[in-house]
Amino acid sequence: MLILGIETSCDDTSVAILRADPPSQRLRRASDKLEVLANVVSSQIVTHAPYGGIVPLLAAREHERNLPLVLSAALSSSKGLTMRDIDLIAVTSGPGLIMSLVRGVNFAKELARKYNKPLIGINHMEGHIYSNFLSTIHYPLFPALCLIVSGGHTELVLMRDHGQYELIGHTVDDAAGEAFDKIARILGLGYPGGPAIAAEAAKIENVNLKMKNDNVKLKIELPRPMLHSKNFNFSFAGLKTAVLYLVRDLTAPLDDVRAEIAHEAQEAIVDVLVSKTKKAAEKFKPKSILLAGGVSANKLLRSRLQELCSMLHVLCSIPPLEYTTDNAAMICAVAYYKTREEADLSAATRRWRAEADANWEIA
Ligand code: KG4
Ligand code: ZN
Repeated sequence: MLILGIETSCDDTSVAILRADPPSQRLRRASDKLEVLANVVSSQIVTHAPYGGIVPLLAAREHERNLPLVLSAALSSSKGLTMRDIDLIAVTSGPGLIMSLVRGVNFAKELARKYNKPLIGINHMEGHIYSNFLSTIHYPLFPALCLIVSGGHTELVLMRDHGQYELIGHTVDDAAGEAFDKIARILGLGYPGGPAIAAEAAKIENVNLKMKNDNVKLKIELPRPMLHSKNFNFSFAGLKTAVLYLVRDLTAPLDDVRAEIAHEAQEAIVDVLVSKTKKAAEKFKPKSILLAGGVSANKLLRSRLQELCSMLHVLCSIPPLEYTTDNAAMICAVAYYKTREEADLSAATRRWRAEADANWEIA
């Protein structure tokens, strides 16, 4: 079975092709074998960087221009496959920027009509979760506690089985990725902020070694919002404001302390994410902890979560780096698990919606 995935929820245009086992073989297997034949991502960072964030109108225009190019790149890198070989088209339908979503959904509908293929709309956040099912080494065990951290979402979700989600915590204001992006802007670092802050913070790791030897401590301390609250919710707006005031009231040049602030901001965000996950894991006793979303590319977060999992003796599932930020391979993976019991995809297509919905929540 070949699934073509299309992802345009934000500022990345991506098309992927996934090969999955045909039904007869699949049912006899203990685990599903998925093979990503292509996962082409066209980034719009260069377009949006001068504005310090995503400009929705520009994003939509870029998707429109890039979609046919990214599709042909995906097909030609997949052993000469053509649209006729595809069994199912999957497209991200939400949540995301409405104008971006509409471009992808319309493109997918047009392809489905032209080549007479079944079409299914996929939730973007579910896509991030399923980036953990693309690697064939360790499949997450259920129940899984999912820490979803992206530019627009920060959620703790309990996943009892495929497609079954219970929201147990969420951000009450900014998402973790948004905090990285906003703090990066205050510090005069580039867009996207996550990788920029991580790179700036890494400068301090090196200096830190020297400082530790000299017994010098870092001076800058930022708050860990809601660290001790009784629920599993997050808040990052206060942290951003604390950085804003810190920079406003600096007596030293920002150049002298930028790396130190970036280092402490990253520590604060990761501390909160990992502590809340620990609390939730102690209550819900999952068999695996699963990390998802663009912020899962963060090295510090990846290693702290791994440490937590070893301490709690639960399986740790962290997506390979190439599937952490927005990509269409993860959309194909959701489509596969949603449709693998269907005997007739064409008949089932009438039940599946593929309409852009900017606010589509999974739980
Ligand atoms: O999932 P994603 O690609 O797009 C959304 O669905 O929002 O996530 C994008 C977010 C951005 O806020 C970006 O700054 C953050 O992921 N991000 C990172 C890293 N790489 C991307 N945050 C921290 N460290 C990183 N290495
Ligand atoms: Zn995303």
